[in-house]
This record gives sequence, structure tokens and C-alpha cells, in this order.
Amino acid sequence: MPSPKPRVSTRTEPIDSLPPDAVLFGRSAAMMEVRSLAAKVSNINAPVLLCGDGGTGKEALARWIHKHSGSAGGQFVKVNCAAVPGTLLESELFGYEKGAFTGAHASKPGRVELAQNGTLFLDEIADLDPGLQSKLLQFLQDGSFSRIGGTEEKSVDTRLICATSKNLEREIEAGTFRADLYYRINVVRMRLPRLRERSEDISLIAEYFHAQFQERFSKSAEPLTTAMLQYLESLEWPGNIRELSNGIARHVLVGAEANIGLDWAAKTRNGASGNSNSSGNVPLKQVSREAVRAREKILILDALRANQWNRRKTAEALKISYRTLIYKIRDAGLISKRSRIASMPRLGDADTSHSPAE
Ligand SMILES: Nc1ncnc2c1ncn2[C@@H]1O[C@H](COP(=O)(O)OP(=O)(O)OP(=O)(O)O)[C@@H](O)[C@H]1O
Ligand SMILES: [Mg+2]
Repeated sequence: MPSPKPRVSTRTEPIDSLPPDAVLFGRSAAMMEVRSLAAKVSNINAPVLLCGDGGTGKEALARWIHKHSGSAGGQFVKVNCAAVPGTLLESELFGYEKGAFTGAHASKPGRVELAQNGTLFLDEIADLDPGLQSKLLQFLQDGSFSRIGGTEEKSVDTRLICATSKNLEREIEAGTFRADLYYRINVVRMRLPRLRERSEDISLIAEYFHAQFQERFSKSAEPLTTAMLQYLESLEWPGNIRELSNGIARHVLVGAEANIGLDWAAKTRNGASGNSNSSGNVPLKQVSREAVRAREKILILDALRANQWNRRKTAEALKISYRTLIYKIRDAGLISKRSRIASMPRLGDADTSHSPAE
């Protein structure tokens, strides 16, 4: 039996906190696909399953679909299946009648009822208690359910969006998720790309947060320089958009003297900035310097390739001196130790090297 007085840990939230579409979807090909599918599904009332790592924007997309659908007049009701234990979740989802259990002094509608003509967003669906999986399945089959302790069969018309950061097929194999429920919820499936898979959207999102946090904290912050944005684009972002958001919030709050706010886990993809951000405390100057170096390394590598590794031609193409190029090549670790010694610049020498090891 459910414990008395389930504490509400799920909320009905406003949807006006969504970023503008241009920011929400960005310009990457992966998100363009998401956008076009999202626009299609918002016009039909089919269950949607949103998959993607933590912080990739599953909830934001669910809210967008709700806002652009025929259910927009109703509420967007979110239930986090991982946050509430099974018995509590049952009363939270389906409600209860007075006297259903000790402490049930009055009847209470569940979240499912609140989502009438709106959207029911079941977050972290993979963590739904097995007992509740059957009850949900029954509800999805005919739209009917009864409150705990109730005899009346209720029916609700709602749009269902589920989200998961877990692999549901694997959960089915492991016997923790019902295959029949999976087929019910997996009608339209959308995958949110990781932030590093859409790095062309990073500066857009970063600038958005930068403006948002300045407004929210009534603070004027150091601008995000091009070098900084390039550096941000080079990071892994294991925590995805949420990690980027936290980072920019720290930048706005703490300022340029402290952390640009790269989380401890954010590593550079090209390795050019070494382990300098492993502590999570990166002085702004250092970040800018590293961003420049990281960008330079990419440009130099591209130019070397374009010029068949001819360093003289590469230096000309980059409009820097041959000597500077050699130093930068060494600095960026673009050649092996042996060829590095061989390639130490001697003023006036001809460039014959074609095979630096990457
Ligand atoms: N494209 C975007 N542009 C700006 N902010 C975004 C974007 N997508 C998501 N956000 C914001 O990033 C944060 C994380 O997004 P959201 O909660 O939707 O991710 P999630 O995939 O549901 O994460 P989790 O699995 O950890 O719950 C939120 O603050 C959200 O408002
Ligand atoms: Mg979420």
C-alpha cells in the first residue's frame, strides 16, 4: 500500500521558459532532422519516445512539442519516474480516493487526470517500477484507469511523451522493462544528439545562456570572446547542454577572474588544452590562450594537409614566417619526436619534409 500523504516531487511547470526555436534547434543537421520530426509529431496524437543522454534537451523538446500541438490548451504534466518510489508514484500518477490508505483524508486526482487534454510527460521511463509498468500499459491500451481505492473507471485523453537516457532494448533484455509497454510508447522515436555531435550549435547556445544569466542575475558579465567560444566548441561536454549552462552561469556569476566554468569532466576533444581544466578551475586568460592554441592547431594541420606537408608553402598560406610555423608545429605536438629534431629550423633551409607523424 502506498505510504500516507505522498509528497509531491513532480511539478506542473510553465512552458514559457523555452529558448527561442533558433536556439533550441540550432543549425546542425542532426537538430534540423529533430526539428522537422518534432513539427510532424506535434500535429498527430501519437506517443513519442525521446532518447538521449542527460542534459541533451529531452524535456525542452517535450515542452516544445506540447506547445506546438493540439494539446497546448491543456497542461504539460511532468512525472519523473526515477525520482519517486513505486508505491508513491502510483498514487502520484493515478491519484487516490479518501480512505484508500492511512492518511488519505481526502480524494486526490493523479497526474494522469491533470493531463486531461494536455500532455503527460513521463521522464526516465526506464526506471518505472515493474508493477506500475502494467498499470500504465493498461491505461495506454484503453485510456482508462481507476484511482487507488476507487472503483470508478476513469478515462483520460492525453498526449503521451516519454523520455529516457537509458537503452530500453537493453532493459528489455535484462528483464527490467516490459516489451509490450515498450511497443506502446515507442511509436515515434526521436534521438537528441550529444552536444559534441552538434558543436556548431555551441556558440549560439552559449551566447543565449550568457544573455539569460546576465538578465536573471542582474549582472553584466565579460563578453564571450571568439577564442573562448572556439574553445567551448572543442570540448567534450559529457553533461551536454546542462553542463554548458552551468558553465556560463558560473562565468556570469563569478566573473572573468575565476572560472569560465568548465566542469571537471569537460575534456577537450583534440587534446590541445592538456589537462588544464581537470580541476574545474580555469582562469579566463588561460582558457583564452588554450582556445587560441587549440584553434591554431586545427588550422595548421589543415594547412599542412592542403600543402602536402610542405612547410614553406604552409607558412606562406598561413601568412606567417617559416620559423614561426616550425615553432608552432612543435608547440602543438604535430610531429613525432624524431622528425621534430630533424625539423628544427635552420634559417634559409629548404623544406623537404613530407611525412610528419600525427
Ligand atoms: N537547445 C537548447 N538551447 C538552450 N537551452 C537548452 C536547449 N536544450 C535544453 N536546454 C536547457 O538545458 C537544460 C537541460 O535540458 P533538459 O532538461 O531538457 O535535458 P534532458 O535531456 O531532459 O536532461 P536529463 O536527462 O538530465 O533530465 C535545461 O535547462 C534546458 O532548458
Ligand atoms: Mg530530463
